Amino acid sequence: MIALIWAQDQNGLIGNAGQLPWHLPADLKRFKQLTLDHKIVMGHTTFAGFKKPLPHRENMVLSRQDLTLPAGVEQLHSIDELWALDAARPNEMIFVIGGSQVFEAVLPKADRLYRTIIDDTFSGDTWMPTIDYTNWHLVDRQAGVTDVKNPYRFQFEDYVRG
Ligand SMILES: NC(=O)c1ccc[n+]([C@@H]2O[C@H](COP(=O)([O-])OP(=O)(O)OC[C@H]3O[C@@H](n4cnc5c(N)ncnc54)[C@H](OP(=O)(O)O)[C@@H]3O)[C@@H](O)[C@H]2O)c1
Repeated sequence: MIALIWAQDQNGLIGNAGQLPWHLPADLKRFKQLTLDHKIVMGHTTFAGFKKPLPHRENMVLSRQDLTLPAGVEQLHSIDELWALDAARPNEMIFVIGGSQVFEAVLPKADRLYRTIIDDTFSGDTWMPTIDYTNWHLVDRQAGVTDVKNPYRFQFEDYVRG
């Protein structure tokens, strides 16, 4: 199973200069809870923004180049390698964690979407590809808790295909 997980603003913005446009620790916490101990797949640009692999997850980086990656990080040279991984273990959840280029490539075969929507607008340069939500069924929506460290209104949404 392939799940996409991301946070966006009201306009679908997801990135700015290789980083997230906001600081929202509650979203990072949820991201960690969901992805811990799973395979995570990301684009080369997103990985470059992290600088090091995310701990306790099997980090995989998509790139068409031959990358030299830190120990424990695997490269996927094409999206077909992701499909093969998924086919080999169809009951295992693989989290695709961005960015925009990779989301676009994976979306047609994704089974699940974990979206955080921040009820605000930010400046940036990278947007989520368009998703036709008539193909998706919302199974859970929870309001995030706004506080001093998380100074926006935000919601967590969980969709399955169908
Ligand atoms: N808000 C969020 O939840 C969230 C999540 C993740 C990322 N982001 C943000 O999104 C931005 C990065 O997104 P992006 O779209 O610019 O880049 P990206 O998707 O992270 O990475 C793009 C790179 O991945 C490789 N790639 C993409 N598709 C491929 C394919 N089909 N086969 C093989 N390799 C492939 C290519 O690397 P090579 O050029 O090396 O071949 C490509 O240049 C950053 O600002 C980041 O912070 C936001």
